[in-house]
Amino acid sequence: MQQLIDSLRSIGEPTRLRVLALLAHGELAVGELVQILRLSQPRLSRHMKFLTAAGLVERLPEGAWVFYRLPSSGTGRALVDSVLSFVSPDDPEVVRDRENLNHVRAARKTAAEDYFNRTAESWDDVRGHHYPADDVESALLKAAGQKSYNYMVDFGTGTGRMISLFKDRFERAEGIDLSHKMLTIARSNLQTDDVPGASVRFGDVIASPFDDGIADLVTIHQVLHYMDQPGRVVTEAARVLKPGGRLMIVDFAPHRNEFLRNEHEHRHLGFEARELENWLVASGLKPYQPITLESQHQSGLAVTIWTADKLPKIGENAA
Ligand SMILES: C[S@@+](CC[C@H](N)C(=O)[O-])C[C@H]1O[C@@H](n2cnc3c(N)ncnc32)[C@H](O)[C@@H]1O
Repeated sequence: MQQLIDSLRSIGEPTRLRVLALLAHGELAVGELVQILRLSQPRLSRHMKFLTAAGLVERLPEGAWVFYRLPSSGTGRALVDSVLSFVSPDDPEVVRDRENLNHVRAARKTAAEDYFNRTAESWDDVRGHHYPADDVESALLKAAGQKSYNYMVDFGTGTGRMISLFKDRFERAEGIDLSHKMLTIARSNLQTDDVPGASVRFGDVIASPFDDGIADLVTIHQVLHYMDQPGRVVTEAARVLKPGGRLMIVDFAPHRNEFLRNEHEHRHLGFEARELENWLVASGLKPYQPITLESQHQSGLAVTIWTADKLPKIGENAA
């Protein structure tokens, strides 16, 4: 009872209600909440303390940044969802906050697009700077198994390297990316690498242009750490997969290289294996034991490969 009263007290305050309405659109860093709500950081921190103590938000410190998000389940989440269902989406403050949120997200997207357009030409060299690309690629091929695939989709394809890597394993492949420069280079690489049956096009991995259940292999190689909503990208990949299809994600294990945020547009400093597994399971996938390739540099960057298969629907055979 006391917990419920504390939660209701915490929620019953205008700024805190606005924070919850914002977090319903996905996780946000403290700096972003400050920008959107136009509050000082100390004031925001006081509100976040209340919300965290009441179990209405989760606090996720990551290097110099702190992220907040709504709990994925439980009483706190049920309470937030139920209270937010009474908040009108047309309320002027809610509308203004949503507009500010869209501006903040658009600015980040533009900065990331500029970065990738700038680095596209050197990307095939840059890829191996933080971890030996050959080691990752052979581990990835091994984890993919001997199976051949009918239709591969590569999320955030960049210069198309994943498509070239898997070229003997699929009949058709499509890659999507938001950087036109990367896509131009990918087209040329796919031609040089002689990959018939493969193409790339402009598309956002948050809302990809693919129909449900068309692919039997989806790859997401070094893309999730740029994302505002990495969990949503996993769900989108699961949507595109056929039952029985395979998702392979490669990303950094948690690290402390803040310069990757400041100089290379990373948003997340790697991912805990468990966190990614939770997203995989929540998206209807069955994860296998992840493989971690330990750090080989002073930077301490380790790489993890997650493999998961989409569960067939009950009464349906796997692809
Ligand atoms: C680090 S590069 C990795 C490229 C490729 N997967 C590789 O490993 O070489 C990340 C790529 O994701 C793309 N990207 C970032 N956000 C995206 C989004 N929302 N939708 C599609 N592509 C995105 C970038 O343009 C960039 O080409």
